[in-house]
Amino acid sequence: MIENKKKIFFGRSKSRALSKSKIFFYENHKKDFLVNFEEIKLIKNRDFVLEIGFGLGENLLFQASTFPKDYFIGIDPFINGVANVIQKAKESKLNNISIIDVPVQKVIDNFLDNFFSKVFVLFPDPWMKNKQKKRRLLNYLFLEKILKKMKNKSTLIFATDDQDYFNYVVKEISLLKKKTDIFEYILSNRHPIVDTKYSNKASKLKKDIYFLNLDK
Ligand SMILES: C[S@@+](CC[C@H](N)C(=O)[O-])C[C@H]1O[C@@H](n2cnc3c(N)ncnc32)[C@H](O)[C@@H]1O
Repeated sequence: MIENKKKIFFGRSKSRALSKSKIFFYENHKKDFLVNFEEIKLIKNRDFVLEIGFGLGENLLFQASTFPKDYFIGIDPFINGVANVIQKAKESKLNNISIIDVPVQKVIDNFLDNFFSKVFVLFPDPWMKNKQKKRRLLNYLFLEKILKKMKNKSTLIFATDDQDYFNYVVKEISLLKKKTDIFEYILSNRHPIVDTKYSNKASKLKKDIYFLNLDK
């Protein structure tokens, strides 16, 4: 079999060196937080919420503490963020978060169809240069895939401060809408999110933030 070695992750898996306490939590507790696909299939009567590219985990931690009855899965290969989530979740005794530290494209097929009741994609890398735009996470094919994994009456919440990426996603969604009628979308946000590193950056630079909610 020919292995598909196409590069799918273009971000940094590590930025600055981890503090001693982060290294401690990362090394000693990461395994407690890794998603166990067999176990989550057995969890009944809980809503599953996914955050793709959670960064430092501000929104993931906020959602998990605000909605303790729901179960949160965060996917991001960024080690500093993974270590931060593990430390904060452990210190706050949150037991409704699991993480996956590989690119989402590698694991999305492992989830059951009609599984998530909410999906957050907040400030994904905008890849602004023309040559790089094909790296953008939210494109036609990925949106089609993620919709399959979303339950009926679920929502994907997308936020960006990059107008070109926003317009690109709206265009991809309009194309998808011609193929399937299973979703509607509005260009605003009805779901609470918390400030993140990248929303703060946008606010500091007085940039507009664009929201899109896609309802299945
Ligand atoms: C610009 S940052 C935004 C982080 C955070 N959502 C925020 O608002 O501060 C984008 C994040 O997406 C993650 N990322 C990039 N490609 C990814 C992929 N293929 N799968 C999962 N996460 C990804 C990066 O590691 C990074 O943490």
